[in-house]
Amino acid sequence: MSYDTRIQTGITGFDTMLGGGYLPNTTNLIEGPPGCGKSTLGMQFIYHGAQQGEPGIILTFEALPETYYQMAAAFGWDFRRLEQEGLLKVIITSPEVTQIDLEHANGVLEHTIAQMDAKRILIDSVTHYESAMAHSPNAAPKSKVSLMARGTPAPGASEKFVERDRLYSFLNALKRQGMTTLLTRETTFLFGDEEGFSGGAGIHFIVDSYTMLRYVEIMSAVRRAIIVLKMRGSAHDSAIRQFEIDARGLVVMAPFEGQEGLMSGTPKRMAASFIKAFVRK
Ligand SMILES: Nc1ncnc2c1ncn2[C@@H]1O[C@H](COP(=O)(O)OP(=O)(O)OP(=O)(O)O)[C@@H](O)[C@H]1O
Ligand SMILES: [Mg+2]
Repeated sequence: MSYDTRIQTGITGFDTMLGGGYLPNTTNLIEGPPGCGKSTLGMQFIYHGAQQGEPGIILTFEALPETYYQMAAAFGWDFRRLEQEGLLKVIITSPEVTQIDLEHANGVLEHTIAQMDAKRILIDSVTHYESAMAHSPNAAPKSKVSLMARGTPAPGASEKFVERDRLYSFLNALKRQGMTTLLTRETTFLFGDEEGFSGGAGIHFIVDSYTMLRYVEIMSAVRRAIIVLKMRGSAHDSAIRQFEIDARGLVVMAPFEGQEGLMSGTPKRMAASFIKAFVRK
C-alpha cells in the first residue's frame, strides 16, 4: 500500500514506525500506564485528521469534553474551533449506552458519523468499556438490522467469549462505517510487566495494530518508550524508540541503543564483552 493511502497520525517518527501511518478502516490499540501519553497521542491523531479536512470523533466514558479542550489547548490545538467547523465532536457517554446505541439502526453514534462524514475516532479509553461489558450480561448484541448485526452468542458460550464478541461487534461496527479507530487502554503497572500480560477479552487479538507505551528507567532517569508490536497487513518498525512529550505533542526519537531488558523495566547496558564478541564494527 502506498504512503498516501495511509492514515497519518501526524507524529512524524511514529508514522515512520507504522510504515507511513495506519491502514484505513482498521482498529488500532495504544496501551500504556497512567500519564505516559495515550490521550495525547490519540488527540494528535484526531487533530492531524481535522487539519487535513478529515472529521474526527472523540468518544470517552470518563472525562468531560471540557477536559479534552483544556488538554488540547496545552498543545496549541483549538478543539473548540474544530467543533464549530464540524471537524470534531467530543462525545461523553457510558459503555452501556454505546452498546445499546450500536444495537439499533440509526443510533446516535451511527448518525453522528454519517452526518459529520467522520473518518477517525478515538475511544479514550476502552478499559471502561471492557469492564462494563464484562459485568453486564444483558448488553449482548441482539439485532440483525443494527449497525452491529452479529447475532446473539450461542447459549453456553463462555463469559470471555461473550465479552470478546461484544468488543468485536463494537469495533466491526465502526469499521463498517469506514472509520479508522484508535483505542487507548490502561495498564496499571508503571514499569515493565510485573503483573503479567493482561489480555482482557482478547483485545490484542481483535485489533489490527497494537502499540505499547512504557516508562523505562535508565541511569536514574525515567524515559518514555514506544514499540509497535503488531500491524496486520503491513511491515512496521520493530525497534523500541524513545519519545518525549513537548509543547507540540509526542515526538518520537531514535531507538534506545545498546539497552536490553527495556520492556521488562530493568534496562542494563549490554555488557561490553558481549558487544565486542557479537557486534562487528
Ligand atoms: N504541554 C505539555 N508539554 C509537555 N508535556 C506535557 C504537556 N501536557 C502534558 N504533558 C505530559 O503528558 C502527560 C499526560 O499525558 P496523557 O494525558 O496523554 O497521558 P495518559 O496516558 O492518557 O494518562 P492517563 O492514563 O492518566 O489517562 C503528563 O503527565 C505530562 O507529563
Ligand atoms: Mg488519558
